Amino acid sequence: MSTPIEAAPAAGPSPPAPDSPARGAILVGRGLGKSYPTATGELSVLRGLDLDVYPGQLVAVVGESGTGKSTLLHLLGALDRPTEGTLAFRGEDVFAKGDEALAAFRNRSIGFVFQFHHLLPEFSALENVAMPALIAGGTFETADGRARQLLTGLGLGARMGHRPSQLSGGEQQRVAVARALMNEPGLVLMDEPSGNLDTATAQKLHDELLRLSRDADQAFVVVTHNPTLAALADRVLSLDGGRLVDVTASYRASAPAAGASALPSPPVGPHLAADGDRQPAAPEPSDRPRS
Ligand SMILES: Nc1ncnc2c1ncn2[C@@H]1O[C@H](COP(=O)(O)OP(=O)(O)OP(=O)(O)O)[C@@H](O)[C@H]1O
Ligand SMILES: [Mg+2]
Repeated sequence: MSTPIEAAPAAGPSPPAPDSPARGAILVGRGLGKSYPTATGELSVLRGLDLDVYPGQLVAVVGESGTGKSTLLHLLGALDRPTEGTLAFRGEDVFAKGDEALAAFRNRSIGFVFQFHHLLPEFSALENVAMPALIAGGTFETADGRARQLLTGLGLGARMGHRPSQLSGGEQQRVAVARALMNEPGLVLMDEPSGNLDTATAQKLHDELLRLSRDADQAFVVVTHNPTLAALADRVLSLDGGRLVDVTASYRASAPAAGASALPSPPVGPHLAADGDRQPAAPEPSDRPRS
């Protein structure tokens, strides 16, 4: 059994307390810390970090190499446990679950695109994408149909039978994106999804991510070095010194000219709390502005 985390009391315009989850958020991290033991002592990578992510939002995480972006994504995806702090997904205490329950939770609720793909080498692109649905107990026909649809939508209709070794780096990355979306997870975590893509293909992927976050009400947390993607995101958070700093405004200032994306600008709203940038309490989901 997982331990429910109590919803924060209804509040006026004051910000949520650091130790209470914000209402309506799909993911709430409080005081998350991660240290690694090393030969020279403890390496403290994340230090008491707070994060709220809301459905329908695309959050970009930026930061220099080695600042802990992948480490953070692994915690948010329950692939690793924090040294300290809590994580709630739809109000449930994620790390109160045992390892088996965590694996089932990940399969059902979270899509993950790793920095280095991690596709299964002996399976075709189609099989790799369909795999999460089959693991979740879906029928072959349904999994096959949706996998074909996803791959076609990402421009890989002619590559479905290829194994990963027969795909380019960018194609492998798009297969990994399709696989992450397979079970229609409420939360999608991506580590450099457009790192291997040319500008035009990256733009198509960015538009697709934004469309999904709006239409399917999915939340995306995307680690990226791509300034175009960061400028399109609802929030841009920079990982610095083990904590998140909201740098959305600086990315807005450098946003590409209107028309660069086929999609309207994402809503800018009080939807994500990050260290150093406490936001007012979020409205209920039905009140949130939509694009
Ligand atoms: N298992 C581990 N044991 C010890 N140190 C680790 C471990 N995993 C990561 N680190 C260290 O933690 C720090 C953060 O690593 P992480 O991979 O999260 O960085 P990153 O921000 O994703 O970097 P990049 O942009 O290069 O991908 C790095 O200094 C790394 O060396
Ligand atoms: Mg990384």
